[in-house]
Amino acid sequence: MTKTITVIPGDGIGPEVTTSTLEILRAAGAKLEFEEQVAGMAGLERFKDPLPTETLESIRRNGVCLKGPLATPVGSGFRSINVAIRKEFDLFANVRPAVTMVPGGRYEEIDLVLIRENTEGLYVGVEHYIGLEGDPRAAAESVMIITRFGAERIVRYAFEYARRNGRRKVTLAHKANILKYTQGLFLDVGREVARDYEGEIEFEDRIIDATAMQLVVNPYEFDVLVMENMFGDILSDLMAGLVGGLGVAPAANIGKDASMFEAVHGSAPDIAGKGIANPTSLTLAAAMLLEHIGQKEEGARVREGVRRAIEDPASRTRDLGGGANTKEFTEAVVRSLR
Ligand code: NAI
Repeated sequence: MTKTITVIPGDGIGPEVTTSTLEILRAAGAKLEFEEQVAGMAGLERFKDPLPTETLESIRRNGVCLKGPLATPVGSGFRSINVAIRKEFDLFANVRPAVTMVPGGRYEEIDLVLIRENTEGLYVGVEHYIGLEGDPRAAAESVMIITRFGAERIVRYAFEYARRNGRRKVTLAHKANILKYTQGLFLDVGREVARDYEGEIEFEDRIIDATAMQLVVNPYEFDVLVMENMFGDILSDLMAGLVGGLGVAPAANIGKDASMFEAVHGSAPDIAGKGIANPTSLTLAAAMLLEHIGQKEEGARVREGVRRAIEDPASRTRDLGGGANTKEFTEAVVRSLR
């Protein structure tokens, strides 16, 4: 059955990598209809709203969205639209696989998945300035919020993900040695949930800084990792670095009633409009989308097509050390589809 999905091309390189991804999806025989919507800067230009109601309604109606990167002004200006979409649809689980795609890189055969809590922690947006002695911005405060409910559902999601995908181990990374309440609660709840999977899926907990170091020294020690929002944001970029960088890192944002699939990277303003962006991250996100909606064969076809295209150094884009532009890479993927 054909499924209609919302497509937000996004800002910067977004439209370029989206065009390429949709071309690959069509060529792979994905049973999808695309309903195009705008958000971010494009939303601001067209509707004077970075997150137009029409876009939200489309996501609500279709339940599945493929989203290009959206630019967020640093410091002042509107808050991240990505965070707003995650909040609006309660997309609590951010799933970020890091799988070796480029042979001859720093590590071979990496196959890790990071599950990041997507709605709590420091991202709740409870922050303000504190004025002192005539300086209205003498200090600033951000509040980290961890709830038992949020911790339990993300750790359970990680274990269920491990179970569904035949994974052997879940590592919970935390900073409970310093943040005894927030991180302590996350760890305590994690240990409770882990008991339900004893004997089936191994569980360990590690301090976040040591986890970062160990991921670089010996990433093969890990399998599925679960952590709160900010730690997950940082470590998933680190893990993308293990397998060739942001150009090959997809992400899924999963909720009960909706899901959104995107690249981990941003709008890359430095290369936008030049036709040289690597569309792999968004294309791999689309493969995750296909698998999520039950089009497993099509998802695997897309992923394998990308893998085969990247295997040939001549088809690689510049960020992967090659000389191909977006169009040439896209054509190579389409040729590699079987
Ligand atoms: P970025 O990820 O856009 O770029 C970092 C570096 O990686 C740049 O040198 C860029 O050229 C390169 N790069 C990224 N994606 C690439 C690709 N597909 N192919 C080749 N090279 C690629 O990060 P930056 O510059 O910090 O952020 C730019 C904007 O994107 C900001 O407004 C930020 O808020 C937003 N952003 C949006 C995200 C999203 O929509 N999920 C995620 C991260 C950032």
